[in-house]
Amino acid sequence: MEYAPAKFHKSARTLPEPGEAFAFTPENQAKFDAYVTRYPPDQRKSAILYALYLAQGQQGYLTRAAMQHVAQQIRCTPAEVEDVVSYYTMFFTKPVGKYVLNVCRTLSCALLGAERVTEELSAVLGIKPGETDPTGTFTLVEVECLGACDRAPVVMINDTDWHERLAPEHVRRFVEDLRARGKAALSGCHLHKEQGAGGGGQGAR
Ligand code: FES
Repeated sequence: MEYAPAKFHKSARTLPEPGEAFAFTPENQAKFDAYVTRYPPDQRKSAILYALYLAQGQQGYLTRAAMQHVAQQIRCTPAEVEDVVSYYTMFFTKPVGKYVLNVCRTLSCALLGAERVTEELSAVLGIKPGETDPTGTFTLVEVECLGACDRAPVVMINDTDWHERLAPEHVRRFVEDLRARGKAALSGCHLHKEQGAGGGGQGAR
């Protein structure tokens, strides 16, 4: 049997947009200045994730200008900052929707149907992983283990809430509920704790 010669895949990596001039707000600068004292002066780079979260929280996503500002703050090169941004799925280099749906695709979730959940979300929202819907409400992302493997498949919404045991047949209702009721539509065990009802996921509806 003859095999076709191997093809070399080009990296899909693209340069983030330059963006407007960026600097931390005085409040964020004060937060960063306080946080960075946790590290020895010659290891300011250790504060990179915190600095990036501050920058992303300030303008919603990270432009090249924001990365340059972070590089100045932690005293490294912009390329080093970009390496970190391009590695982690929680950093965005373009605007995202109000709800970022992070579908876990690691083993436990994969075995329990995460791929079909992603396909169903794609079909219902009309977008592929990595895209935002035209209304700017939903962004779909595939991520690695979210640490809630016993309640798979798990979808984390933004970086604070999650929905557990989401089956493909529940996806349409999940999206409608999230649109209509926001956080109230979620099932993460952290919500039960917040409501004083004890731990434990509620499972699929
Ligand atoms: S494998 Fe999905 S949360 Fe761990």
